[in-house]
Amino acid sequence: MDFKRTVLVTGGSGFIGSHLICSLVCRHPNWRIINLDNLDYCCSPWSLESVENRTNYTLIKGDICDSLLVNHIFHTQNIDVVFHLAAKTHVETSFEAPLIFQRVNVEGTRVLLSAACHAERSLHRFIYVSTDEVYGATSQQVFDELSPLKPNNPYSATKAAAEIQVLSYWEKYKFPVIITRSNNIYGPRQFTEKVIPRFISLLQHNKKCTIQGTLPKSRHFLFVDDAVEAFLLLLEKGIVGEIYNVGSSCEVPIMHLSRELIKMVKNVPDSEVNDWLEFVPDRPRTELRYPITCEKLQQLGWRAQVTWAEGIRQTVTWYQENPDFWSDTNKDR
Ligand SMILES: NC(=O)c1ccc[n+]([C@@H]2O[C@H](COP(=O)([O-])OP(=O)(O)OC[C@H]3O[C@@H](n4cnc5c(N)ncnc54)[C@H](O)[C@@H]3O)[C@@H](O)[C@H]2O)c1
Repeated sequence: MDFKRTVLVTGGSGFIGSHLICSLVCRHPNWRIINLDNLDYCCSPWSLESVENRTNYTLIKGDICDSLLVNHIFHTQNIDVVFHLAAKTHVETSFEAPLIFQRVNVEGTRVLLSAACHAERSLHRFIYVSTDEVYGATSQQVFDELSPLKPNNPYSATKAAAEIQVLSYWEKYKFPVIITRSNNIYGPRQFTEKVIPRFISLLQHNKKCTIQGTLPKSRHFLFVDDAVEAFLLLLEKGIVGEIYNVGSSCEVPIMHLSRELIKMVKNVPDSEVNDWLEFVPDRPRTELRYPITCEKLQQLGWRAQVTWAEGIRQTVTWYQENPDFWSDTNKDR
């Protein structure tokens, strides 16, 4: 079959990548979707089960830092579009093992940029999925795309370094890049190291939600379907060389989040909620909040469609219906 477009998604077996791939494969049967992923610990083979037999979907198991492999893909597969999501993503781990974050997030991005930029076929778009954490946390300021980068953990420092490489390809070669900086994204199938699935999983195992430190932390949460819609809109309408915040006005204090999840998962009255909380020491530097404005993206027509109440309901329901999804990941299907 002749495909109209070939899209390479890196990190397509991860949380956001798998939702993006499912949308691309199902909405665009005449596009070929290639997933380059080394299937790290945070992936489940079930995440892409619904599309794995589709004729327009291919998985290449491999490392984005492997320049031989990546160059080969660009020389042989006629790639038109790249969504670059592959990364090491767990902030806590980045304090313990910063080197691997440097390798994958910075060097891996360089390998991809170099291969994509020098391929015979001109790339239509290179979309780099970055994070609001590159702005550094704040207590008051609202960040727009021109705010200075002040990453304050090894993970966000590597994402910022990768962004600068991406922009340098725009400056030097007018290579058609777009950068997205999103809030915390949540939804079904997210690995249990991230805060929402971690709390749900702890509660499902009759353990308490662990609250780090005593400072009032909060996060802006965006449902994964809304993030995917933003990425697909930017592919069609985003301006090359530009950066777009992808955010939500839904700011949820972590304490409130834990209480809400305790009530939903354990089905207990208010008077028993505290029995499911445990306070633990914080990491050295606490990120209080990351408010961003996304007017620039909204001018292209994007609005978050899924309310917090609906998104968290869908998420909790999914984890309740799939309690063994992550614990069974290493077992044969
Ligand atoms: N989840 C969020 O809240 C959020 C918010 C903003 C930005 N982001 C960014 O979005 C992207 C995806 O995040 P996610 O939450 O889906 O993360 P994830 O950890 O679920 O997925 C990361 C994916 O990258 C793959 N990967 C890791 N190292 C690789 C390598 N060397 N070669 C090939 N593949 C490799 C993993 O196997 C996995 O499939 C990341 O770049 C992240 O920085 C995430």
